[in-house]
Amino acid sequence: MNVAGTLRVPGDKSISHRALILSALAKGESRVKGILESADVHSTASVLRTLGASIPTLSPDFVIDGRGVGSLGNPASALDCGNSGTTTRLMAGVVAARPIEATFVGDSSLSRRPMRRVARPLEAMGARIALPQHGGLPMTICGSDLHDVIWQSEVASAQVKSAILLAALTAGVAAEVIEPHATRDHTERMLIARGAPLVTHDTGVRLDELAYVEPLDVDVPGDPSSAAFFAGLAAIAEGGSLRLERVCVNETRIGFLEQLERMGASVTQVDARLDGGEPVADILVEPGELLAATVTADDVPAMVDELPLLACLATRANGETRITGANELRVKESDRIAAVVANLRAIGAEAEELPDGMIVRGPTAGLRGRITTHGDHRLAMAFGILGAAAGNEIEIDDRDCVAVSYPRFWDDLASVTR
Ligand code: S3P
Repeated sequence: MNVAGTLRVPGDKSISHRALILSALAKGESRVKGILESADVHSTASVLRTLGASIPTLSPDFVIDGRGVGSLGNPASALDCGNSGTTTRLMAGVVAARPIEATFVGDSSLSRRPMRRVARPLEAMGARIALPQHGGLPMTICGSDLHDVIWQSEVASAQVKSAILLAALTAGVAAEVIEPHATRDHTERMLIARGAPLVTHDTGVRLDELAYVEPLDVDVPGDPSSAAFFAGLAAIAEGGSLRLERVCVNETRIGFLEQLERMGASVTQVDARLDGGEPVADILVEPGELLAATVTADDVPAMVDELPLLACLATRANGETRITGANELRVKESDRIAAVVANLRAIGAEAEELPDGMIVRGPTAGLRGRITTHGDHRLAMAFGILGAAAGNEIEIDDRDCVAVSYPRFWDDLASVTR
């Protein structure tokens, strides 16, 4: 398989969620260009609408007329977050700070995911939250007047950090969040761009109280987690090169690209610039002789969503790839440690589960069989890339689940492979 061409991957999922939420909380008109039109982002739009925000139908260029932090009211129905953990946790922060009672629901995968991590800090700020015994959904939040908080988070999670910041912002109180490892900082960047008094320090972030949020025009850059699939494809191709245009290269998100380069692929950033508060560049990727990788807890946050892909690519790399400190993978859209290892073994690769990660030994060519995705979009795409590699014949049980983050993934894959 060879690769060729130029690809503009869809808008960043994390930035898209935040653009919708912060534009709804702002006072005035925010223009949003290039938003990701995927199932997860539609979930955030619909939850905001259910709470009374005026969010137009998503399109490549539209305007949100924000009515301020005090504008969201009691919903007429449950808040359906679909498959989206980001929608649930970020909106939990907003709802907790309003005099609202709301119940968050979601699909079977989301309903199993841990919500105590977000409920505990919001309760510490003054909200009342009811969770089922297993700690997932449905989650009912009774919001109220919140107070200041300093929260030491046990997990490195941008969703938890953002929930606390959004709660403080909506309530007009101060919050400081300390993290065990730095996580993606899109909420912080967007808050600063909207005039919020926010400072970051070595171990965390502090937001002081503010009266209102300013509107902001956002041109959402390409999603590095979506670009990663095509960077990986180019890395394992027999020849050619790919140019990925206008990708967000925020340093909290490019751990995978850096890892791919360390493994031996050629990865070059060109035309790097700052665009709307986020660093953006075109990325050129060419294949290379790949060596195995070692990933530890410090590396995980900057490549957390790319680890299933890295494990798949490890079957094409020389040596033993060892991923540790990645317990968070167990509580994503599926248990990504168990599911990735089981699928790799099922198609003939050498892989082993660790409590907090996995080992993959390569290279193994001629992988054949059917993948069980458990409806997890990133598993479908990671194994889709591996299936495109020369000599592999891999069938995906549920190709449509890519709609969660990258609806046109299969078309884009077909357009750059030769
Ligand atoms: C996200 C944070 C990460 C990531 C998810 C999106 C965000 O989750 O896996 O896809 O937009 O804040 P955690 O915060 O649970 O690590």
